[in-house]
Amino acid sequence: MCGIVGYIGDKGASALLVEGLRRLEYRGYDSAGVAVMNGNGVEIRKAAGKISKLEAVLSAMPISGNVGIAHTRWATHGAPTECNAHPHVSMDGTVAVVHNGIIENFSPLRSKLQALGYKFVSETDTEVLAHLIQAAYEDSLEQAVMDALSQVEGTYGIAVISSRDPNKLIAARKGSPLLIGLGEGEYYVASDVSAILAHTRQVVYLDDGDIAVLDRNGYRILDNDAREMLRSVSKVDWDLGQIERGGYAHFMLKEIFEQPQTIENTMRGRLLDDTGTAKLGGLNLTDEELLRFDNIVLTACGTSWHSALIGGMMLEDLARIPTKVEYASEFRYRNPVVTDRTLCIVISQSGETADTLAAMREAKHRGARTMGIVNVVGSTIARESDGGSYIHAGPEIGVASTKAFSSQVTALLLFTLKLARLRALSPVRGREIVEALHALPAQVQNILDRADEIEALAEEFKRASNFLYLGRGYNFPTALEGALKLKEISYIHAEGYPAAEMKHGPIALIDEMMPVVFIAPHDSVFEKVVSNVQEVKARKGKVIAITSRPEPALEGLIDYEFRIPETLDLVTPILASVPLQLLAYFIAVKRGSNVDQPRNLAKSVTVE
Ligand code: G6P
Repeated sequence: MCGIVGYIGDKGASALLVEGLRRLEYRGYDSAGVAVMNGNGVEIRKAAGKISKLEAVLSAMPISGNVGIAHTRWATHGAPTECNAHPHVSMDGTVAVVHNGIIENFSPLRSKLQALGYKFVSETDTEVLAHLIQAAYEDSLEQAVMDALSQVEGTYGIAVISSRDPNKLIAARKGSPLLIGLGEGEYYVASDVSAILAHTRQVVYLDDGDIAVLDRNGYRILDNDAREMLRSVSKVDWDLGQIERGGYAHFMLKEIFEQPQTIENTMRGRLLDDTGTAKLGGLNLTDEELLRFDNIVLTACGTSWHSALIGGMMLEDLARIPTKVEYASEFRYRNPVVTDRTLCIVISQSGETADTLAAMREAKHRGARTMGIVNVVGSTIARESDGGSYIHAGPEIGVASTKAFSSQVTALLLFTLKLARLRALSPVRGREIVEALHALPAQVQNILDRADEIEALAEEFKRASNFLYLGRGYNFPTALEGALKLKEISYIHAEGYPAAEMKHGPIALIDEMMPVVFIAPHDSVFEKVVSNVQEVKARKGKVIAITSRPEPALEGLIDYEFRIPETLDLVTPILASVPLQLLAYFIAVKRGSNVDQPRNLAKSVTVE
């Protein structure tokens, strides 16, 4: 959620750190700061607001030096002010710390330090770390960090420098992702690989409990008892072009337009045309083991939860297995019925969402087998799950998820196909699905080629203050996702509802000022949706319909129509969500919102 970058080498640290922060800005963007070892001591620059504010401060007051740490923040403790921005410094000014995560016992630690005479200047939980390290410092920085961390409860990814040991950079992780980037005579620390991709693709992912000690000649990874640990080096296969905007106005637009390719990437090598099934290499489960499960729990947050809803429906529909879909944040604190015959499917773009990770651990603890549907390779959920499937959508930078959603649903469909063919589904039906999937990328492209139709629609509705999204069956989650996209980036209040439920409440809201988006492709519930359209029209609501063919039944009932290509019912959410992404995008742009970095949100929510 917040972003960390660190550098030790022989280049100017300040520019490299700010460049890294820029690439991490999508993760959190309410303040930023850098600390650089300048030859005499640790020098700090900070600014409230976006990275550009920090850049302005740095160009007015540059710092030179080639060891440093930097941070972009998403506020948890304390307002997004300059004072609360990281890095935080110990009272004697010798130690600087950047931190992602939450120190849960910061209050007693703060009181204890205050009693010892330490003065606090910020409201953050992080500042205790800087003082604790100062207090514990005898002759080794890494030992002081270890001592400090042994007193801390909560989660952290930290990077630390100290003027008492100016040629060293320490990084430590517990519950908040962190990696080391390996260069020639230089090393990086980052919370997200995008920060350092321009400089190296060789990375070492830290595990929880790891403390990394870096200097210009190498690195060591220690555990809490200072025992040296071995961690493998991974090669990142994302390239720089994928984390840049290319010619697009926003990352979100680029990512929406990448979907034909990213969906193709999710399916690549996984469809078996002849047998009408899918092959998923990373499940780590034999067919016999797959058949042993008697129920499935899908758990996720946000957009990924909407994918889970669709996945749950598919699995019951095709594989005929009892399925439950749970918000990860609820699941982790309930007393869910999970046994060793439960398969828990965990869906996460980032693979780092704190609630989702905790839900996965809880399911594991209760005996379930866990399977990750994850985008970010090497992320914690990917590494801790028993097996899974990467969606291969490439880096998603826009805070509002788009291409990850379509790829998650595609991956869930592949898994459903596999399980369903093992259980009850006929080869004929399997082949029908495989065919529909092959056709999907071109169908998405067909929608994107008509983006101007959606842009015109956005012009009509850009001043609306409310929106209702209605759908049934597989497209009830699509309605939820359409509403979420709109509210995330345009700040228009929007609700998604199952179309027939509307009459139990939301119908009271409908008048001529209320745009209602119906997701009404020609599927098995189409006739039912038509009745709901009539109910809205009778109350003068403005009807925008996503349809898939000319429908006489809708004549005179709809004000605006956008047609998506025809496909199987269970594939319609992928197609129908694309015009809804575009609608949200164009409305937000026309209202002047910062589409890629909407207010108060963060790309990856690594706190509870
Ligand atoms: C945040 C993002 C959402 C995302 C959700 C879950 O709230 O803003 O776009 O859907 O987290 O993230 P995950 O990485 O687990 O899919």
